[in-house]
Amino acid sequence: MEHERIIIERGKRSGLPIIVAVHSTALGQAIGGCRLAAYADWRDGLTDALRLSAAMTDKCALAGLPNGGGKTVVALAPGRTLDGRDRRDALHDVADVIASLGGTYATGPDMGTGPDDMATIAERTPYAFCRPVTSGGSGDSSEATAVGVLACLQTLCAESDLSNRTFAILGLGRVGAHLLGLLHEAGAQQVVVSDVDETRRAVADKYGATWTTPQACLTADVDVLIPAATGGLLTPDSVPTLRCAAIAGPANNQLDQPATAGLLHDRGILWAPDIVVSAGGIVHATAVELHHETSAEATARVRAIGGTLAEILRTARATGTTPAEAARARARNVVARGRGELAR
Ligand code: PHE
Repeated sequence: MEHERIIIERGKRSGLPIIVAVHSTALGQAIGGCRLAAYADWRDGLTDALRLSAAMTDKCALAGLPNGGGKTVVALAPGRTLDGRDRRDALHDVADVIASLGGTYATGPDMGTGPDDMATIAERTPYAFCRPVTSGGSGDSSEATAVGVLACLQTLCAESDLSNRTFAILGLGRVGAHLLGLLHEAGAQQVVVSDVDETRRAVADKYGATWTTPQACLTADVDVLIPAATGGLLTPDSVPTLRCAAIAGPANNQLDQPATAGLLHDRGILWAPDIVVSAGGIVHATAVELHHETSAEATARVRAIGGTLAEILRTARATGTTPAEAARARARNVVARGRGELAR
């Protein structure tokens, strides 16, 4: 068993499966968002929580944070959404589980949740990042996540001028939409975008991006494909259909399994590991809320993610491994060193 602690319970108020997985506290308090999503079976939500919390451990280690990895999943039945009283009940159920962990784990926003939800959780436990600025939190982390992704795109393109590059953003949720705005500001002329939610098309129109279907976006002939929706999109089936030169995006767990990194490598597609690229949100939130930095100082830290990616790509080239393996090896090293220090 790799995880330190897994709590699964039927929420007292909501009756919903509440899953909190604490993967590691070797470097410090475990952190990781609260995902409110639909699953065919709640056990699929458990699988997601296990994988996502393990990825958070690596993400924190690579970002140089004194934190470990965890994740919360509230598993909804397919097609179900949660509003009003039901939403509050589910979030309070989450809060009680987090409170029972006594500060070893703190949550934050993730797919399906945002700053207001963190404020609701914070009614019952202090361990929630990214409450709205007006309630004393660091606010929405999606903009910082997008800044981190942009820094990685600049590393991949080996220049800060992105105006001659082409991009495909798969998913225009909070992070994807911010990123589209940043690419627009950076002068990018050719951006293809998609989202399963048709109403997001307005965001594409605002920035003059080309709206297409998720399938066409995934296989677009572009310099960089940017996964910004659910994970698991890179599979033995999808990799042969890709026409991008590189992939870098904020979606968590983009590979269906570790071996898929090898398939990308064999096809000559440069995959920037998601555990590096997606760290902007946690870097910003912890810098502001735990280390009391200003938002500007925190954002400078977020930009440094581009430098970390450059180092990992260099190591991968020098040792003849994939960026995925180089990133994981580096993360494992950091955690092992942390464990040693704790033992002393
Ligand atoms: N969704 C964020 C991530 O996957 C989780 C998070 C953000 C946790 C901000 C804490 C603070 O990295």
